[in-house]
Amino acid sequence: MAEYIPDDSIDLIYLDPPFNSKRIYNAFIGGAQWVAFDDTWRWYEAIDDFHAVAGDVSMAPTMEGLRRILGEGAELAYLSYMAYRLRECRRVLKPTGSIYLHCDPAMSYLLRLVMDAVFEKKNFRNEVAWCYRTGGATKRWFARKHDVILYYVNGKDARFTPPKEKSYLTGQLRHTKDRPTHIDEYGEYQNVLFSKTNIKLYRDKKGYFTLVNCRDYWNIDAVGRSSSERMGYPTQKPLALLERIIAASSQPGDIVFDPFCGCGTTIHAAQNLDRRWIGIDVCVQACKVIQNRIEGHFDSLWDDIEFVGMPKTIEDAKALAAYDPFKFERWAASLVPGMEANKRQRGDKGIDGRGRLPIRKGQFVDVVSQVKAGSTNPSHVQAFNEARRQAGAAMGVFTCFEDRITAGIKNAAVNAGRYMDRWPVLQIYTIEDYFAGRLPDLPLANIALP
Ligand SMILES: C[S@@+](CC[C@H](N)C(=O)[O-])C[C@H]1O[C@@H](n2cnc3c(N)ncnc32)[C@H](O)[C@@H]1O
Repeated sequence: MAEYIPDDSIDLIYLDPPFNSKRIYNAFIGGAQWVAFDDTWRWYEAIDDFHAVAGDVSMAPTMEGLRRILGEGAELAYLSYMAYRLRECRRVLKPTGSIYLHCDPAMSYLLRLVMDAVFEKKNFRNEVAWCYRTGGATKRWFARKHDVILYYVNGKDARFTPPKEKSYLTGQLRHTKDRPTHIDEYGEYQNVLFSKTNIKLYRDKKGYFTLVNCRDYWNIDAVGRSSSERMGYPTQKPLALLERIIAASSQPGDIVFDPFCGCGTTIHAAQNLDRRWIGIDVCVQACKVIQNRIEGHFDSLWDDIEFVGMPKTIEDAKALAAYDPFKFERWAASLVPGMEANKRQRGDKGIDGRGRLPIRKGQFVDVVSQVKAGSTNPSHVQAFNEARRQAGAAMGVFTCFEDRITAGIKNAAVNAGRYMDRWPVLQIYTIEDYFAGRLPDLPLANIALP
């Protein structure tokens, strides 16, 4: 965002970030299961974010207050991470813009404080409850069947067009004055009837209804196992939810932005409604799912999309390695499902990416990666193995271009042995492997997780 999105340039932001659910989310796509993203939070990873926002006069009281209430743990780490990114969202939002933050009751009450600090309390508009029926129901308390969407504007001139929803009439149309006088075809509804009292009445299979301004609880089906929308990506949201938000708070041609776009629901909905859009996701596989989604629904649109940060071919990857080795490293370090690139450019002690992968239910191992854009030799592989050992990681993935691999490099990897007699402690993975759809031999969440 900091690099590519100018100040005051976005009309609508919808964000559906990880919820601090303390879970690892798996995706099931193309017959393979892999880790899509890790929703666990550690304080030491968020200290920089905390200090960056706590240094703002307007945010300091909230962040300091949260630190006193929550202590320095996973919750404060999550909120600091979010505060830092929400502040960036305000920077890019136009004064007439709006923002919808999707979360759940576990964190919504704390995120609301952060949103008040970033967007100002007076700009709060709604706490929308998105109600759904999927998933199990506990016997120990009321089944938790809603998410929370916090809707704020960026100023009093924000645009809003209230969407309409059906309000069914209870009872019969008893009075003659309410009887319909005229019947006509209208949109998705069967008939529109003008009663003598001049209220528009509609009728569908369920009965007579009027159209009223949408309320703040939305009954929209979640994307279930048999849904035609299903992309196999975890936490996918329904198109109808995004279309409602986009229709309410933007106009055709406006720019809609989703900084955690997952499998691209916001992009799909924005495209359906003739909005321009920007999506960001840290997960390379999510970007691939979006590509399939766009190619499946919109003819030739993919060719017109400006794609930043992810090479599409070996030549692109080589060009990126030559032009910006750090960006290349970040990209290459996150090619393996479940692995994320380091946030910092320096001080990585030979480690460019890390992940925690499940080897059995409830048990994880740390895996690290190193990327070499240029020439390499066996001593690099040995040094990486030492860095892996010092980092306490069980396995390491050494990533480079195929033409850099020699017999000596392969031997250095083989000599590192096997973890639990099963997985290579150190393996060489090439950019060519990635483009051919091959994955390294790692425990890729191929077991059911809690
Ligand atoms: C709850 S999912 C979003 C699902 C999305 N609304 C959809 O309908 O598909 C959260 C997404 O945030 C992404 N993510 C996590 N950390 C991120 C970061 N720092 N920057 C960008 N995306 C991130 C994850 O990869 C994941 O796809």
